[in-house]
Amino acid sequence: MQRVSLPFLQAGMMVAKGVYSSDGRLLLSAGTILAEGTIPKMQNLGVGSVYICNPLFTDLEVPELINIDTRVKTIQALQSVVRKFEKTNELNIEPLKGAVRQLVAEIISNREAMIHLIDLRTFDDYLIAHSVNVCILSLLTAVNMDYNEAKLVDLAMGCLLHDLGMTAVPEEIRAKVGSLTPKESSIVQTHAEVGFNYIRKVRDMSVLAAHVAFQHHERFDGKGYPRQMAGNEIHEYARIAAVADIFDALISDRPYRKGMLPHEAYEILMTLGDSLVDREIVNIFLEHVAIYPMGSVVQLGSNEIGIVTTVLPKMQSRPIVKLLTDTNGELLQEPREINLAEHLTLFITRVLKEQEIFELGKSVRDEQES
Ligand SMILES: [Fe+2]
Repeated sequence: MQRVSLPFLQAGMMVAKGVYSSDGRLLLSAGTILAEGTIPKMQNLGVGSVYICNPLFTDLEVPELINIDTRVKTIQALQSVVRKFEKTNELNIEPLKGAVRQLVAEIISNREAMIHLIDLRTFDDYLIAHSVNVCILSLLTAVNMDYNEAKLVDLAMGCLLHDLGMTAVPEEIRAKVGSLTPKESSIVQTHAEVGFNYIRKVRDMSVLAAHVAFQHHERFDGKGYPRQMAGNEIHEYARIAAVADIFDALISDRPYRKGMLPHEAYEILMTLGDSLVDREIVNIFLEHVAIYPMGSVVQLGSNEIGIVTTVLPKMQSRPIVKLLTDTNGELLQEPREINLAEHLTLFITRVLKEQEIFELGKSVRDEQES
């Protein structure tokens, strides 16, 4: 299957993986053939992309780090907590507890795994989807820093609620396309302290979890906010969350721009690691994020084009690639696999764009049918 963003969706394409709204409702089930009218409907609902069947990817099973049911349950629980908080200004974290326990259990049993793609993201409720992603990415980092279960639970709670204070920022500022005025920026910046002040009052929550909200915009060089803390003055939980927060923001599709590809976000995070974020945490984080996720279609220095089929931990830039074309761009009769870890002079030179992948899929289908 291929992840296709809305502008490239066409009637007649077959949905390969269920599409959910940010409150966890099933909008489209696997196997549905897209009708003309479905695409604008998806756009109105705020869906960013859909997984579509493409013959290039028929035998590719991308493992999911977190079970889809767990992800949906977490999103629903967080949404109900935030909605209630917006209405009453009371923060009741009870509905989050079961979801967090389940997330932590799955991360502990999957600690060696890699994140390939983060889906279930919609524009209409960026805050909720983003918070759940930051939570999962932070847990994956922390479990590889040997955090025990109790610390993972605290960190997860803090991450889920890290942007709670954004609910106090007026919608017109939150949804603004383009740069903020200095006054608007200072309003947005209040979200860290506002969130902290609510979270720290919750009786059965660790104050360290509240510090994730307070300190996630502090930067290693002391130029963040609200307190301009630097280096290890910033609590480790907040340093972990900051890395996950920046990465997820970079790869997210937003109404006004398409998210970056993982390898582009990887480069940026590597650069920021020298000043803004904790370099050691970035290194641990990036060991578990696939730079070229399974299913990426890549071109090699030899000009051959292929699909990434296996990514081994610590070998992210040298995956196993199933070659589809030869050096002249001609389709191979029999695709063959090449392990880039064994061909150190061969590099990935670029990642193909959606339209190119779609066209390639069409020529493979034509070839199979002829
Ligand atoms: Fe934030």
